[in-house]
Amino acid sequence: MPSVAVVCGSRSDLSTLKGCFDVLDSYGIGWEASVISAHRQADALHAYVAEAEASGVLLFIGAAGLAAHLPGVLASLTARPVIGIPLDGGALGGADALYSVVQMPPGVPVASVAIGSAGAKNAAHLAARILALSDDAVAERVASFREEQAAKAELRIDPRA
Ligand code: RP5
Repeated sequence: MPSVAVVCGSRSDLSTLKGCFDVLDSYGIGWEASVISAHRQADALHAYVAEAEASGVLLFIGAAGLAAHLPGVLASLTARPVIGIPLDGGALGGADALYSVVQMPPGVPVASVAIGSAGAKNAAHLAARILALSDDAVAERVASFREEQAAKAELRIDPRA
């Protein structure tokens, strides 16, 4: 049963989301993904959120470019955490989507990550940290990832060696 639902606004968004799917897989987190445009398929998006909640989804990730309406609409439809990924590709290089995602009004929160593929990966890492609060197996994998990341980053230079 998926605990994370990833929704994007267009098939053209899917390639940027590969990093998100790969990171979720690396944590052993069940996920499902759908293309449902908030602007073009509003009724379908409403119905999907209700279905996903009923099937046990705990957290939503919404990804969209241009006037990125989708993550905010997700947050309007559910009380579960919503992470928004602003996608690039438009004339403004993703700044348009970033402003749309990050500027939600008080009371309708969306946790925005960075623009594009870096944000797609971080959406999955953030989802893992949220789910880790109530899932010991995910918590262990988050801890292991952090140790591995630190080990890879470490570099000591001894000029006397
Ligand atoms: C947004 O508009 C989508 O999320 C996508 O990033 C952008 C362009 O969509 P298409 O015209 O490629 O379907 O809603």
